[in-house]
This record gives sequence, C-alpha cells and structure tokens, in this order.
Amino acid sequence: MILKVLALAAAVTVLSVYGVHDVALAVVMSPATVSQAWDVYRGENKGREEATQELTFVEQPESSKVSVLQPTACDIPPDRRFDCAPEKLISQEECQARGCCYVPVSCLDSANGKPWCFFPLSYPSYRMKNLTATETGYTAQLTRDAPTFFPDNIMNLQLDVMFETEGRLRFSLKDPANKRFEVPLETPQISIKASSTLYSVQFSADPFGLVVVRKSSGQVLLNTTVAPLFYADQFLQISTSLPSGFISGLGEHLTSLILNVSWTKVTLWNRDMPPAPSANLYGSHPFYLVLEEGGLAHGVFLLNSNAMDVILQPSPAITWRTTGGILDFYIFLGPDPKSVVSQYLDVIGYPLMPPYWALGFHLCRWGYISTAVTKEVVKNMTAAQFPLDVQWNDLDYTDARRDFTFDKDRFRDMPDMVRDFHHDGRRYVMIVDPGISSSSPPGSYKPYDEGLKQGVFILNATGQPLMGKVWPGPTAFPDFTNPQAQQWWYDMVKDFHDQVPFDGMWIDMNEPSNFVEGSLDGCPNNKFENPPYVPGVLGRSLKTHTICASSKQYLSSHYNLHNLYGLTEAIASHDALVRVRGKRPFVISRSTFASHGRYAGHWTGDIASTWEHLYYTIPAVLLFNLYGVPLVGADVCGFVGDTSEELCVRWTQLGAFYPFMRNHNDHGNRPQEPYIFSQGAQKAMRKALLLRYSLLPYLYTLFHKAHSAGDTVARPLYLEFPEDPNTWDIDRQLMWGAALLITPVLEAGKTKVSGYFPLGTWYNTIAGSTIHSKGQWILLPAPLDTINVHIRAGYILPLQEPALTTTESRTKGMTLVVALTPEGVARGDLFWDDGEGLLTFEKGDYTQILFLARNGMLVNEIVRLNGQVDGLLLQEVTVLGVPSPPHHVLANGIPVADFSYRLDSKILNISLSLLMREQFVITWS
Ligand SMILES: *[C@@H]1O[C@H](CO)[C@@H](O)[C@H](O)[C@H]1NC(C)=O
Ligand SMILES: *[C@@H]1O[C@H](CO)[C@@H](O)[C@H](O)[C@H]1NC(C)=O
Ligand SMILES: *[C@@H]1O[C@H](CO)[C@@H](O)[C@H](O)[C@H]1NC(C)=O
Ligand SMILES: *[C@@H]1O[C@H](CO)[C@@H](O)[C@H](O)[C@H]1NC(C)=O
Ligand SMILES: *[C@@H]1O[C@H](CO)[C@@H](O)[C@H](O)[C@H]1NC(C)=O
Ligand SMILES: *[C@@H]1O[C@H](CO)[C@@H](O)[C@H](O)[C@H]1NC(C)=O
Repeated sequence: MILKVLALAAAVTVLSVYGVHDVALAVVMSPATVSQAWDVYRGENKGREEATQELTFVEQPESSKVSVLQPTACDIPPDRRFDCAPEKLISQEECQARGCCYVPVSCLDSANGKPWCFFPLSYPSYRMKNLTATETGYTAQLTRDAPTFFPDNIMNLQLDVMFETEGRLRFSLKDPANKRFEVPLETPQISIKASSTLYSVQFSADPFGLVVVRKSSGQVLLNTTVAPLFYADQFLQISTSLPSGFISGLGEHLTSLILNVSWTKVTLWNRDMPPAPSANLYGSHPFYLVLEEGGLAHGVFLLNSNAMDVILQPSPAITWRTTGGILDFYIFLGPDPKSVVSQYLDVIGYPLMPPYWALGFHLCRWGYISTAVTKEVVKNMTAAQFPLDVQWNDLDYTDARRDFTFDKDRFRDMPDMVRDFHHDGRRYVMIVDPGISSSSPPGSYKPYDEGLKQGVFILNATGQPLMGKVWPGPTAFPDFTNPQAQQWWYDMVKDFHDQVPFDGMWIDMNEPSNFVEGSLDGCPNNKFENPPYVPGVLGRSLKTHTICASSKQYLSSHYNLHNLYGLTEAIASHDALVRVRGKRPFVISRSTFASHGRYAGHWTGDIASTWEHLYYTIPAVLLFNLYGVPLVGADVCGFVGDTSEELCVRWTQLGAFYPFMRNHNDHGNRPQEPYIFSQGAQKAMRKALLLRYSLLPYLYTLFHKAHSAGDTVARPLYLEFPEDPNTWDIDRQLMWGAALLITPVLEAGKTKVSGYFPLGTWYNTIAGSTIHSKGQWILLPAPLDTINVHIRAGYILPLQEPALTTTESRTKGMTLVVALTPEGVARGDLFWDDGEGLLTFEKGDYTQILFLARNGMLVNEIVRLNGQVDGLLLQEVTVLGVPSPPHHVLANGIPVADFSYRLDSKILNISLSLLMREQFVITWS
C-alpha cells in the first residue's frame, strides 16, 4: 500500500522556473521511482533517522504492523500533519488502506484535534496542465488519476487565476462539465488584469499547488501544496500554510480576537444557539485576516456558503473543508490591515449608512407585556433623565406570537403608542420572525394564506411547504431567494406598517431556528441530510435546530442556501422598509453572512449576564467590523440570567461604545432598565449615555466613512498600530475610528484597569490627564462611575451637547475637541445630513467639513454644504495640549472674551457662537 503511494507521487523536483510577468511558474514533476524517493529522503535526513524511529516507537502501540517504509513518508513533525481521516475515526488498517500514515497520539492531543491518521509527504492529488495566460490572469486544467476516499470525485477541474487589482487576487476551482452551486453574490467583474500587483503567484504542477508571495517581503502568504486537494461533490478541501499564527475572523463564534491555531476546528453552519465556546453560532463569515511581520497583513475570503469546517493547526496552517459549492478564493494583500478590510469590502460591499437615530440608545426586553408597560418604561426613562431614542417590543406585542399581528387586548392602542413615541422624537422597532404560523383557520391569517397562494414557502420532499415549529407553533418558512416571496414580504410589511407606523425591524430566529429537527415530519434520508462529511456542528447533524437540508428553495437546495437564510431575509426586509417608509432602513438581524452589512446590522444574540460574556462582546464587535457589519452591538447588561448592579453599570459603560447600543433582557430575569438601579448606579449609567450622545457626530462621521470608503467604525488596536505587535491580540480595549481608545473595566470589584497605550500622546478629557506613552501598559483609575476614554493626539472630534433623544441633540450646540500632537497639529472632519434620507451621500445632499489645527490656529474647510447645518452653532472649542497659557484668543480676528486655560491639564476652553456652515479661523497666542 505504502509502496504504491510512494510510486505515485513522491518528493518533488523543480525542473524549470520561468518568470512570466508576475508569475513565476515552477513546473514540478515526480521522480520516476521509489528508490529515488528513498534516496532523496535519506540524503535530506541523514543523522535524524534514529531519533525519528525512536519517537515513532514511543508513540505507537507495540506489535505495530506499520511497514518499515513508514518513517520515510511519515516523518512529519506533528504540527504539520494534515488529517487523512476527517470524517470519522478509523483503524490503522483503514488508514493505511487510504495510503496514509498512522501514528497514534495521546488521548488529550487527539481530543484537541491532532490527527492520528495523516497524509504522507506526497499523496495523490490533482495535476495541473495547460496553464495558459488570459486577459485577466491564468487558466489551467487539473486532473486526477484515481478517486479519493470520498464519493463522487470531480476528476477534472478548471482553475482560473485572476489578477483583479493591485491588492486583490482571486482564484477559483470549478467543474468545467457541470455548473455547481455558487453564492449569488454580485462581486466586481474584472475584464483585464491589474498592471502592477503586490503579489506574485507560483504554480506547482504535480501535485497541483498554488503559492502566493508578497513581492515586497518575499513572504509566502499561502501555499496550497502543503496537503492534497479534494474536490468531491460534497467534500472540497484545500489546505494552505499561514505566515503567522495571528489570525482573526472565521465568525461567528464566541472567541477572542485572535484565534488559537493549536488545532482549532471552526464550524460555519448558522444556528440558533446561546453563544458558547466552539459552537457554531448565528452567522457565517468565511474570511480571515492574518498579521505578518513588520505590521503587514493579508486577508482571505472563501466565497462559499455550504456547511464547512476550518481547521487551524500550529505549523501554522489552515484547512478549508466545505461540503458543496465551489472553491472561490479572494486574497487581499493590504499591505496594512486597514487596506485588507477595505479590499474585502470592495468585494462584498460597503456597509449601509444607518439613520442617525439608530446610534442613540435602544431599550427592549421580553416581558413588556402591554402597551401600558411599554409606555411606562419610556416614561420612567424620561423621568430619570436617561436618553432613549428607540423603544422596542419583543414577541409580547403579537397576537398568538404570529408575525404582522398585534394583540388586540394588551396592545390594542399600539398604533397610538407608536405615534406618541414619534411625537416625542423617538422611534419604535419590533421583532419579526421568519416562521409564518400555519395553524390559524384558513381565511383568518393573511400572511400564511397569501404565502400559500403565492407559493413563497420552502418546500419539502413531497413538494409541500415544509412545516417546522417555532414560537407560534407549526410554521412555514418563507423562501427569500424567491422574488415572489420578496414581493409578498413587502406586502406584509406594508400592511402592518399601515396599521402600526413602526420605524425598523428586528429580525430574529432567522438561522432559521426550528424547535423540531428538520420538520414536523422529520427529514428524508438522502445525500443532503447525510453527507459523507458532517462538519463539527452542534448536534452532529445539519438538521439540528433548523429545517431539513434537503428542503427545496427557489435558487437551490437549503443545503446550499442555509447559511444565506438570514442574509436573504435581511435583504427582503431592507428593501421592504425602503419602499414602505421611503427613508433609510433600520434592520437588526441575528443571522448574517458575508455582505450582510450592506443591508442591516447585527446583535450578538442570546449572551449571558456574566463578566465573561461582557468581555467576549469586545472581540465580537471588533470582528463584525472586519466583516463589514459596523452596526453591531451586544445586549447591554446581558440577556440570559440575572444581571447585577455592578455588572450592568460596567456593561452600560462599555455598551456606550458599541456602535449599536441596546439594553435587552430575557423574560423572567431581574429587570435591568437603567432607572431601576440605585441612584449611584443610575448616575454612572447616565454619565456613560450622555458621553455617547455627546460623541454621536463623531460616530456618525465614522459610519459615513465606513459607508463611503469601506472603513471600520469600532476597530481593534492593530488596525491603527499594526507595526506594534503588542497591539495584535488586544481585545479588552477597542477604538472608535483612529481617535478614541476605550479601556473598560471587565471584572467585578475593580476600580483600576490596565490598558495598553501605543506610542504617542493620549488625552483623557474627563480627568484632564495626559499620557505620553512609549508603547506601554498603564494602570488607570477606574471608579465605578467612570469608563476610561482617551483621545489620540493629532485628531479633532466633533461633539454635540447631549439630550434625551437624537431628535433633540441634533439641534444642539457643537464642540470641537482638538487634541494636539506635541508639534501642535490635529485634524478631523464632520459628515452631516438630514440623518434619515435615502442615499444622501450618493445624491450629494450632505455637508462635509474638515478641521485643521496648526501653529495655534484652528480652521475649517467646507468641502460640501447643504441646508441641514443651517441652524447648527459651534459653541465651544476645547484644545488639549496647549503648552502655555494664551493671552489672546481670536475668532475670525475678533477677540473672544470667554476662554479659560487650566495650567495643570494644559486645556484651553473657548466659548463662542459661530455658524458651523461658515468658514472660521480661531487663533490662540
Ligand atoms: C490547452 O488550452 C487551449 C486553450 O484553452 C486549448 O485550445 C487546448 O486544446 C488545450 N490543450 C489541452 C492539451 O488541453
Ligand atoms: C510549498 O509547500 C510545499 C510542500 O510543503 C513545499 O515543498 C514548497 O517548498 C512550498 N513552496 C514555497 C514557495 O514555500
Ligand atoms: C490554545 O489551545 C490549546 C489547546 O487547546 C491550549 O492548550 C492553549 O492554552 C490555547 N491557547 C490560548 C492562548 O488560549
Ligand atoms: C416605573 O417606575 C415606577 C416608579 O418607580 C415603578 O413602580 C414601575 O415599576 C416602573 N415601571 C416599569 C415598567 O419599570
Ligand atoms: C411535507 O409537508 C407536508 C405538510 O405541508 C406533510 O403533510 C408531508 O408529509 C411532508 N412530506 C414529507 C416527505 O415530509
Ligand atoms: C468650557 O467652558 C464651558 C463654559 O464655561 C463649560 O460649560 C465647559 O464645561 C468647559 N469645558 C471644559 C472641557 O472645561
């Protein structure tokens, strides 16, 4: 067995290397005979043989029948072994029958994912032939001689390599004979290859492999030759090396910012699951970003929506294992991590611009059982002087938990309640689940009756609507890939909006969640339900807590479309809201897939009211920003279980820096609205909320940059300071844009917190303190009423006096906080528009102002002006880092009387009254 393998493919020899434009083509051939392979091996491993064999003996059970040839092809360091038994535990005989190496590891290692059965140094794979230059790059054919141990191998493949832009490379592997499922995502199409690139590509012909090299550093970013390629109908696997173990991404999971490459299996199969370590959760984002030496970074996106596992191992390397579709990879070369993100978003789409009010405070809980209670909550919030922009209702409002209905008793005056909220400058959002109740008497529930008539539901094996069970009982599931279903969804949204003038939709349970496995009638036994490889999904079956994988949708089987369900519902809801309201839509969805941010935001689901989960919300928010979903937040104070006063205070402080901030609670828990806590706690929460509200012009401007340029809003420190490796794994702090560093307390009983401050000057305006950091950890005071927020020298932030709603705060006076570098320089900007109009940026209906400070002077430059800023006043300028007390302050040449300077903190505070829309020059000397 082993002999045969060695004869088929063995140690490789590079015969020739051509330099073709950006491609170094290395044609690799197999040496003819086994003995040659032996010689090559022996030559390279002189002196190591004894040790290897010793090690082999220690690890193997006695009486091992492993042939004497074993050490040759199997002498692979444990970290570099690629699993040859991905789908099941197999015996030594079965392993060797696959032509693989069998070396047992300890139980602990095995539980960690270290393989016992792994591929020898060479193993049959595809061979590449006929590599041909095209307009966009290269094309080639791949073939293999013998099938793999998975059924239905596709023996011939087409490789396309596209040099799309300077920083973006794409390569795909498809079946040229049969069109396979492809994710219906419109991506940029390139007709001619980029004239210069940051990457070069090398090919290995036999076995097929592709190597991507960063030209500037010579760093190999990925090398697919490290393990054999599989391309069977339901098992596609490709492995590549990684240049470092600092890898972020592959969501959605309960995880730190940097993944653990010590044999981690990451599973992508959307599911309703309270976040727990290692579990597949609500969304799928097959994208990662890797930091490289010197602060460079690259990213990889596999455009594939099938159930998949991604394996990380310490060599370091990554293995993508997907159960369908095609292999369609995008590589983003950065060269810095920020560029990697924007290059990824160039492919999946830039995030939508949220309405301004979406950035205010949202309040919800399951258990606001009537309009009376809901209104009382708002009243209590106002009485306690807490900002509140958006009041929500969970399922409580519905009639028998059915979508697009409201309880005619407890919520009888729901329309009036919403109108009253509007009157007070607030907005209203309610939950909508995808499952449509099917058990009402015919003729009594329009969403189901119409849906049935119009054929919008997902079908089962006998071509009838698949019946699952969710909150209302038996339910059918709309197929949002069907254009008819999109129209029907719009009709339902409009009907309901005609009754209750709500402002946004909260789409929950859209993995889709199902309380029975598959359907009320179970699932058939077929290749979709029982694929030859089942990824590491919770419950070990694709149908667990969702609908049958083999159910039929308009575009394809649910097997292919499952991970897109939430996305397609988000698109339908987004489009319906645009048509119904004619304003910027607001949709928050639990389930997501790559490109979700174009249509909606996300909250991180049913997290627990624990300190541990409080921490996990930071990496979650940061990662969703990398995924192009900046409108993201976690339930403030936690959802599952009782919160405590201290936890809720700390959570409100951190939550004030979630781009999307909502306090939401489960039914039956201790209440957690800000006003129910002690006066001291309330004071601390109010302070955090007012701080958020005062920063909203800055936050809104960040969202504009995300929308218009593919930036992030909340960002990990490594996006700003990639050249400082100390920042790479920091996920207990976060940044807002480039200018704000937030250092929350994440532990009980602490009144100090340690934070990392990258090289530079950092100002704390509240405390009036300044940090000059060499790039160091600093212990900060953090009493319960305080969250540490530092402004980075060199930036100017637009602020506004807070109020109880954004409707009100948007009319208030503005402040510019000018954080000078030691050289006395700072810059910043403001994006402003009506806050809710459609496509204001695209239509040019907005105001944009740049601010620049230098040499004791602050000036603005009006890039674009519209009527929206007309009444806005600049009332205050706070200059941080003014070395000595100024004697004169002038605004447009006129002396300003009202200014103060604090010697201790070097803060200059200037009170004025200037129109934001007019050009100004402010000087201090
Ligand atoms: C190689 O590719 C060219 C162009 O795609 C095609 O015309 C030719 O038949 C191919 N040759 C082989 C041996 O596959
Ligand atoms: C790619 O990986 C193969 C197999 O490990 C190795 O032989 C080859 O040298 C690698 N290529 C590069 C450019 O690192
Ligand atoms: C990574 O995982 C390994 C194996 O499970 C574990 O021993 C190690 O502590 C983890 N490392 C980190 C940084 O969590
Ligand atoms: C509102 O405040 C009143 C007075 O403190 C309290 O009795 C009531 O329970 C609160 N209502 C809600 C829904 O929290
Ligand atoms: C399909 O669903 C219908 C209900 O819509 C049910 O009666 C039928 O048994 C289901 N068929 C299968 C194969 O499960
Ligand atoms: C600046 O002065 C105004 C008016 O006197 C005051 O309200 C404000 O708190 C001061 N700001 C700072 C940062 O000292």
